[in-house]
Amino acid sequence: MKILAIESSHDDTSVVLYENKVILKEISLSQTDFHKKFGGTVPEYSARIHFERFTPILEEFMKEFDLTTIDHVAYTYKPGLVGSLHMGKLFAHAIGFALNKEVRKINHMHGHIFAVCFNHEITFPALALIVSGGHTQLWDVKGYTEDKITLIGETKDDAVGEVYDKVARVLELGFPGGPVIDKLSRTTEDGIDFHINDDQSFNFSFSGLKTKVINYVHNADQKGTVIDKAKVAKGFQDAVVNNLISKTTNAINEYSPESIILGGGVSANSLLRSEFAKLHQKALIPEMKYTTDNAMMIAITSHLQKENE
Ligand code: KG4
Ligand code: ZN
Repeated sequence: MKILAIESSHDDTSVVLYENKVILKEISLSQTDFHKKFGGTVPEYSARIHFERFTPILEEFMKEFDLTTIDHVAYTYKPGLVGSLHMGKLFAHAIGFALNKEVRKINHMHGHIFAVCFNHEITFPALALIVSGGHTQLWDVKGYTEDKITLIGETKDDAVGEVYDKVARVLELGFPGGPVIDKLSRTTEDGIDFHINDDQSFNFSFSGLKTKVINYVHNADQKGTVIDKAKVAKGFQDAVVNNLISKTTNAINEYSPESIILGGGVSANSLLRSEFAKLHQKALIPEMKYTTDNAMMIAITSHLQKENE
């Protein structure tokens, strides 16, 4: 099944031409450089950049491929920045209209769940832990279609990636924080104790941990003591990963899944990947290039959903 897929929920403009789990062409343009000076994504600005980029991207695809041979167009319809999502929807419908093809809408989070299918076969029922800059979620996944996917737990405050980014900011490590903290934490064996108590529910809360780390850094600043950033990074990462693993273990005990799936930008984390792999004999972890926001995951999700309707 050949699919033209579009992802524009946040600050990546991504378009792919996909055929049966193979990416024929991909163009993904990040907007990070535009938003950096504001310290975060500016929604209106993001929508405008998507708008300006779609047509030149499409022209690149048309130079190489005959798009009249596609089965359908797929785009991300939620969750994300409203204006950015809207640009993707308009673009998808314009192409669908011009080519007289079906236009299918895909949930971005389901994209993160099924990104793993580029390399693995899911056995259902499955349990998915999706961790990104905007979300921390546990899903009960009984099949590919929307009616078979149920959210069973999510963050009550900051998403895990967001906390990584904020902690990196107080430690003056740059943006995005995840990869830097991950790398730095591997340089020491001993981390500061920032552990989170598990409340036994399937929901997550990371704002308390964030405050603990920020207070630790500020107290040291006030006293004029120099902190060991590696030890802070290690303690923080251990606390996050222990909590994610303990919540996932609770959910495995309750739902007895046949396979477990990891996804989202934070699934690039080295400690999380190794600990998650120990949780189940069929623990499915995406290849690094499928962990981040990308139209590839939208394409494969649309394919699997259409095939299994
Ligand atoms: O899924 P994603 O690409 O975008 C969103 O939908 O949010 O996730 C981006 C997030 C950022 O917060 C980034 O710091 C985090 O993923 N991240 C990591 C690592 N690599 C990226 N967090 C922890 N460890 C990593 N190695
Ligand atoms: Zn995402």
